[in-house]
Amino acid sequence: MAHQSDLIADDIEAYLKAHEHKSLLRFLTCGSVDDGKSTLIGRLLYDSKMIFEDQLAALEADSKKVGTQGGDIDFALLVDGLAAEREQGITIDVAYRFFSTDKRKFIVADTPGHEQYTRNMVTGASTADAAIILIDARKGVLTQTRRHSYLVSLLGIRHVVLAINKMDLVGWSQDTFDTILAEYRDFADQIGIKQFTAIPMSALKGDNITAHSDAAPWYDGPALLPLLETLPVDDDLRDKPFRMPVQWVNRPNLDFRGFSGLISSGTIRPGDKIKALPSGRESTVERIVTFRDDLDVAVAGQSVTLTLTDEIDISRGDVIAEAAAPPPVADQFEATVVWMDDEAMLPGRPYLLKLGTRTVSAQITEPKYKINVNTLEHLAAKRLELNEIGVCNLSLDAPIAFDAYTDNHDLGGFILVDRISNRTVGAGMLHFALRRSQNIHWQALDVDKNSRAALKGQRGRVVWLTGLSGSGKSTIANLVEKRLHADGRHTYLLDGDNVRHGLNKDLGFTDEDRVENIRRVAEVSKLMVDAGLIVLVSFISPFRAERRLARDLQAEGDFVEVYVNTPLAVAEQRDVKGLYKKARAGELKNFTGIDSPYEPPENAEITVDTTAMSATEAAERIVAWLEGELDYSI
Ligand code: ADX
Repeated sequence: MAHQSDLIADDIEAYLKAHEHKSLLRFLTCGSVDDGKSTLIGRLLYDSKMIFEDQLAALEADSKKVGTQGGDIDFALLVDGLAAEREQGITIDVAYRFFSTDKRKFIVADTPGHEQYTRNMVTGASTADAAIILIDARKGVLTQTRRHSYLVSLLGIRHVVLAINKMDLVGWSQDTFDTILAEYRDFADQIGIKQFTAIPMSALKGDNITAHSDAAPWYDGPALLPLLETLPVDDDLRDKPFRMPVQWVNRPNLDFRGFSGLISSGTIRPGDKIKALPSGRESTVERIVTFRDDLDVAVAGQSVTLTLTDEIDISRGDVIAEAAAPPPVADQFEATVVWMDDEAMLPGRPYLLKLGTRTVSAQITEPKYKINVNTLEHLAAKRLELNEIGVCNLSLDAPIAFDAYTDNHDLGGFILVDRISNRTVGAGMLHFALRRSQNIHWQALDVDKNSRAALKGQRGRVVWLTGLSGSGKSTIANLVEKRLHADGRHTYLLDGDNVRHGLNKDLGFTDEDRVENIRRVAEVSKLMVDAGLIVLVSFISPFRAERRLARDLQAEGDFVEVYVNTPLAVAEQRDVKGLYKKARAGELKNFTGIDSPYEPPENAEITVDTTAMSATEAAERIVAWLEGELDYSI
């Protein structure tokens, strides 16, 4: 590699050592290819000599052949060449490039600029210390500039550089520069970007990139690279209260118990008082252990193992914090959510939320509003689609320690994961805990589920029938209930059509309404099981995620899923209510099996095939299964 440091050839050890102690700046470039983004990145790689000799030779040859610069080096070719690799699926959507100078190491995240790439920008920006927002001096502030700047502000990137590029094409006009600067400053104010540095430059010609250029004598600010070399990173994190999410509990033998993790903010010394969260237990740091030796002090950004003077219970996912300034603990929040999946975010559906080292189940409410990223308008929304950003409430199934994202990105930033496919479907930033979550407590009751069920001589549980409309669920559920009732069991039957006449009268058949329909029924059946009843549920319940939610609400073994398996053709032929006919005629929208999906169960406890047995036989099969369970009665 044609690196500028001679050390690399003379003394590789010394070079590596010098390298190890340089600070690292992560930054992101925003702007479309036309703004000169590829040229700028190419220029930075070239000027810092981070290009392999053979790449350089190829670049020179290609520039002569296909370059747009009349035979001079076309830097964009360097990056676009890499972009072509990206299209072949070699790397993911965000390309990270590394370069270094004598003063610092850099990682630049190159994210595509189009609207449909909000997701990529969020991914690339989540760890960035700085953002370079490129503007073509001939075009000024564009919609895309606004969108990128909004995302940069939303993600709390601390340093913003406004690179007003292609100044050579406007004759290095100070007026043009000042006009763009004034317009951008107005906008930046609106979105909460308080500070930024504007640099007039020509990435192509290399003006104001590595050194101040004579082309703009009126500009007395820094050139880009010297600025990037001196932007402060991470130091303010050290002055914040101590936080360390516990990655793992290190217990090699009975004599040692340490808690390992990456310090996300603050400073810690042996003797400091700490509080473990969410438990709230306090102790004192005994040692700070690393794989080399013990430390007298450790700061944000370091990975350490702490031992404590007391044996307190701390597990992976907990947070160790400064005792005098602990983070709050809550299970309901307001947050901004950026949706990243092709399948829309559905209010009420349980997702996994990962924050710090903690993973919990989370439900998201209907968005309070979504944000038009081009105009910043707030719009009403029922769901969030791919690349949409909304403000929602979240409700978690366990309390977590957190900070507002603006105070601490590690303890306030989260990702959302689909529970069934394991895909990352969203990312977000916590604003604050909802006060109601602090004021509502769990009331301990003396008579419990088991004692209520015991009085009836049975065990409360849910028998959940799922299947297409017309599959025979209701008929079978009715027969099962009759049998159990005749046997002296205390039962209740929740039937889709009936519940939709009352409790769920307000719901239709969109995906989000079906999610809410099942969420409510799952909660009602939980209450009924708690009352000691055997609850029969007969709902299409087309989505795995919500049946899983209903299952997770019950104790192990108390949820019996029955798949009433009737092929669509058979259900449609029966068409007892004439609804398939209407759906086929286009008079009924979102009909399950026709233009709305049905996801069959993968692990139902019981499957009944209604083409091979009558409804009575199916009911008997279910009753026999229930009776066959040793603990059917208690
Ligand atoms: S679910 O999908 O949300 O679980 P649910 O079981 O409550 O559905 O209600 C299904 C019943 O509503 C069907 O048996 C049918 O009688 C009626 N129905 C009316 N419109 C539709 C529709 N678009 N899709 C499915 N069922 C519908």
